[in-house]
Amino acid sequence: MKIAIAADHGGFLLKDGLRDRLRAEGFEVADFGANSAESVDYPDYAAAVARAVAAGQYERGVLICTTGVGMSISANKVAGIRAALGTDDDEVSLTRRHNDANVLTLGARYVDLETAARLTRIFLETQFEGGRHARRVEKIAALDRAARD
Ligand code: RB5
Repeated sequence: MKIAIAADHGGFLLKDGLRDRLRAEGFEVADFGANSAESVDYPDYAAAVARAVAAGQYERGVLICTTGVGMSISANKVAGIRAALGTDDDEVSLTRRHNDANVLTLGARYVDLETAARLTRIFLETQFEGGRHARRVEKIAALDRAARD
């Protein structure tokens, strides 16, 4: 599975560790930066990953900032993106099973590398359940289309 990952200055250390962990586990991971503690703007990184995922270049995205919230708000502005902030195992599992989330956002202030790696593995390995949830996800897509009109 091809994954795009990015972070701002608040998340780059966790992003680097998570990227290396995912590669060691066999995932193909493209790193969109940032690569230092120099202050940057999280919407720029969210947009780069979200657009690449929405375009089908990557199956999933992972975005990290201090809280995970700014990345989530920004990524969800891109049509076709269903970005979800992940804080615990059950929440991440449900957002895959019910929302077909295609971007996971994490808050570096609240999750350590072990937790981030576990949440990301759940995000990557859990399947969408479809059925009644597909109808609801289609209604999210309709909101994207309505925003374009
Ligand atoms: C950067 O200071 C911080 O605002 C950012 O990392 C993020 O948490 C925003 O939501």
